[in-house]
Amino acid sequence: MSQESHKISTSAQEIVFDHVVKMYPNSATPAVDDLSLTVPAGEICVLLGPSGSGKTTALMMVNRLAEPTGGDIRIGGRSIRDLDPIQLRRSIGYVIQQTGLFPHLSIAANIATVPKVLGWDRKRTKDRVAELLDLVGLPVAEYGSRYPTQLSGGQRQRVGIARALAADPPVMLMDEPFGALDPITREHVQDEFLALHERIRKTVIFVSHDIDEAVKMGDRVAILREGGRLAQYDPPRTLLKKPADEFVARFLGADRGLKRLSLVRLSDLELTPAPDTGGGELPGLPGDATLRSALSLMVAEGADAVRVTGDGGAVLGTASMDAVRKAGAA
Ligand SMILES: Nc1ncnc2c1ncn2[C@@H]1O[C@H](COP(=O)(O)OP(=O)(O)O)[C@@H](O)[C@H]1O
Ligand SMILES: [Mg+2]
Repeated sequence: MSQESHKISTSAQEIVFDHVVKMYPNSATPAVDDLSLTVPAGEICVLLGPSGSGKTTALMMVNRLAEPTGGDIRIGGRSIRDLDPIQLRRSIGYVIQQTGLFPHLSIAANIATVPKVLGWDRKRTKDRVAELLDLVGLPVAEYGSRYPTQLSGGQRQRVGIARALAADPPVMLMDEPFGALDPITREHVQDEFLALHERIRKTVIFVSHDIDEAVKMGDRVAILREGGRLAQYDPPRTLLKKPADEFVARFLGADRGLKRLSLVRLSDLELTPAPDTGGGELPGLPGDATLRSALSLMVAEGADAVRVTGDGGAVLGTASMDAVRKAGAA
């Protein structure tokens, strides 16, 4: 077999957990118990659950930082057991909360670590570093020679993502990558990562204990419960509309209806034509505002509808409280 055939391709790959069990030595109960789920190629799967529900363990089994004690994991149809752990890890991007950047290396050198290990020449490495820093919005001319301490927390996470992407891996594993960021920075980096994902379409497994983050980031969300058992695996909308059981409903919270509204934008609604007066007496929102914002504004202003505006402030129509409620229940 040639050297190449041992490698995992760089295009996105499906990941399958097939009755995976992890029993740590000397523990009475499994950390992950009979986990089966499929992450389609190019999608983001969020593992969501309370502390100790086995999220990190499930993630670390994919790159064999933890070995499954039962079942199998397949990437692009190939069992991870048949892949060399070192090579496997090099072909999977891994991002953790404490970025793990080397403090004594410049940003450029940090990103170049994997290409170096892979034996890329100087030019190819240099070009790749510049390309990646550009991709995460940190131009190499300005940031390449800085050190990790000379960046903000959000910028460090972006470097962590760039470094994980260095070898163009088909799969990315992200363990609460934005957990240490303040809420505003976190929102920014989430938005950036989603925009980046639109372009690179890797298969991503993303661990979170934050429901809003999971609902925002996940094409599908897997809810794990104590003992590492899967409670539900569905797209966010389904999850919020039809929690599988009491545990999931409680975990998602009493405001899951509002969370559902945050998944729909005013521009997704069939708007009512604005009255001849232009609807100027109604509070206004842009079309890309969520139904959750619309509801909040109506409650705050004591209004029964909002005026929806498009690019350049043109009035697109109005959305009533009733229309918002119906869309949320759909
Ligand atoms: N290296 C380890 N050795 C023994 N038990 C562990 C180890 N790592 C995690 N555990 C246990 O496995 C369970 C799941 O842990 P973890 O996967 O870290 O959960 P989460 O990421 O959801 O918080 C916990 O009960 C934890 O104590
Ligand atoms: Mg964890």
